[in-house]
Amino acid sequence: MPIAESLDHFVVPVDDLVVAEEFYVRVFDGLVTKRNGLNVRQRKRGAVPHTFIEIGGKRMGVYLQSDHRPEPAGARGLPTYSFTTSDEGLEALAQDLDEIGTRYERVANAHSFATSTIFFHDPAGNHYAVYTPKEGARSNGATGRMTGVGYIELESPSVDDSISFYEKVLGFETQSRAKNRATLKMASGQTLILTEAPFSPKGLIMSRKVPGPHIAFYVRGANWKAALAHWEGLGIENGDRGAAKERTGTESGTYMDDPAGYVIQFITDGME
Ligand SMILES: [Fe+2]
Repeated sequence: MPIAESLDHFVVPVDDLVVAEEFYVRVFDGLVTKRNGLNVRQRKRGAVPHTFIEIGGKRMGVYLQSDHRPEPAGARGLPTYSFTTSDEGLEALAQDLDEIGTRYERVANAHSFATSTIFFHDPAGNHYAVYTPKEGARSNGATGRMTGVGYIELESPSVDDSISFYEKVLGFETQSRAKNRATLKMASGQTLILTEAPFSPKGLIMSRKVPGPHIAFYVRGANWKAALAHWEGLGIENGDRGAAKERTGTESGTYMDDPAGYVIQFITDGME
């Protein structure tokens, strides 16, 4: 049974919130929907400044780092977050990256599911891939330049441990396993790539107990209770890390740590 159906959204660390907002709004056609941690009430609670930006019909986020991170070596790197787009969207992205002066690599058939992919990193060094999917975009009502959330490629100090986690805890299916890499499939058709590499510094503490960057997967509403029971049965600690957050009445799912060091969020219908 698939526990988690799809990759829903992600929240990444950045070294400059204003620069990140401007970049995401321009290249991803994003819409800034909420800024947090910028007033006294939120600062008193210990909130780290962060911004939510709607991209591809989903609410992405950027969190201000506490420390600098090493400069990325090239356009491609780990981890890689991705969005799907149309042919026109890809052209518009390339034009914006040219105008801004962001280096990128354009690759045909970079993955079995992608026709044309543009790889680049944001000003903070987060790696992105934007691609035209071979089987057409997943329809999620998105109307902007990005049509949806695509695949994700994560660092994995132990690929075996990570495979085990994503198979058992999320219900993903392993499609291929090479020496240093594995490809897993979600029920949505999205791909998770696990590549053997050390977990690089993210510029802040990454823990399910601390509000911050995370990767969110969607669990169907009808499966939510079964999923919680499944994780309890596996003895995996999870919970809402609400301490420094401001709740608006809606639940916000549950969080756990993956074996590499990423924070995973699970959400279901009515949560974001
Ligand atoms: Fe989230």
